[in-house]
Amino acid sequence: MPVVPATSENLDRAAALLRSGGVVAFPTETVYGLGANAFDARAVARIFEIKARPAFDPLIVHVSDEAMLERVAEDVPATARALIQTFWPGPLTIVLRKRAALGDLVTAGLPTVGVRMPAHPIARDLIERAGTPIAAPSANPFGYLSPTQAAHVERMLGDRVDCIIDGGSTKHGVESTIVMLEPRPVLLRHGAISVEAIEAAIGPLARELPDEVRPLAPGRLPQHYAPHTPIRIVGDPARVPQSEREGAALLAFRTPVAGYRVVRVLSTAGDPREAGAHLFEYLHELDASGAVRIDAERVPMEGIGIAIMDRLQRAGSP
Ligand code: TXA
Ligand code: MG
Repeated sequence: MPVVPATSENLDRAAALLRSGGVVAFPTETVYGLGANAFDARAVARIFEIKARPAFDPLIVHVSDEAMLERVAEDVPATARALIQTFWPGPLTIVLRKRAALGDLVTAGLPTVGVRMPAHPIARDLIERAGTPIAAPSANPFGYLSPTQAAHVERMLGDRVDCIIDGGSTKHGVESTIVMLEPRPVLLRHGAISVEAIEAAIGPLARELPDEVRPLAPGRLPQHYAPHTPIRIVGDPARVPQSEREGAALLAFRTPVAGYRVVRVLSTAGDPREAGAHLFEYLHELDASGAVRIDAERVPMEGIGIAIMDRLQRAGSP
């Protein structure tokens, strides 16, 4: 099955594929995921192979209800229950103690598992029909731009997956926020839910990893989410010399600037949420434009803007 619309019949087929070891790309409210049955080691191995993902980088397990959560995690602390109450279904991944029944490949040998319940109705429906927790990283080759449209997945991985379910453009456009709660609450990845919102629910979140959990949080590589085209962050693109604009692309926050070969504006209204929703879409376009370099304008560090800057910094890291 190539790219298919999310009809009931197609979701049944995709769920059957998942149950029999297949790999299915599907939309979530953050980015498209590349899913396999979390309890099927061979199917999970295919995900690593398709993405060329290093085995030390654990996958997030997606569930459609709390009973599924209990199948993959144990000793769920009260802080996690509070977060689940407030933010699930939604773009928050919680790192919990894993059950022994869940294979080591999914969690890259860690004693913990990252779990989230997506809010996207197609994702929820697919997981429910499959009847099993679904391990799913973002549906991109390791280290490259994340996919926010079915066409991105098709272009990058279309010949290697069993099915791509088309759910249109994703809502947030940046990945889920990831937190670990023990030995104390810490932020592992900025994402679609702001740190302030999480702190309002459970109190202070450490931004720096305590030394003892450092080895438990791989995947925080300095270079990630990167286009093939070199990317640099600029404060004010209007002050970039004209000679440097020629042949280059501009990813502006709210105001276009003349003299660039190609320009995309994240949000003319200056809305960080709209900017997040367009971030990877425009980076895919600019990366395919033939520009020699992408200048990405700084966005304000508020709300989802922090996650956007996090992605841009990693994308631009040498
Ligand atoms: O929004 C999202 O989270 C998307 C959609 C598809 O749900 N998924 C996603 O997955 O972004 P991925 O694989 O691209 O990023 C998962 C991150 C990795 O950096 C990994 O290191 C971290 O989650 N992670 C997963 N399990 C972990 C664990 N047990 N401990 C620490 N970090 C973990
Ligand atoms: Mg990813």
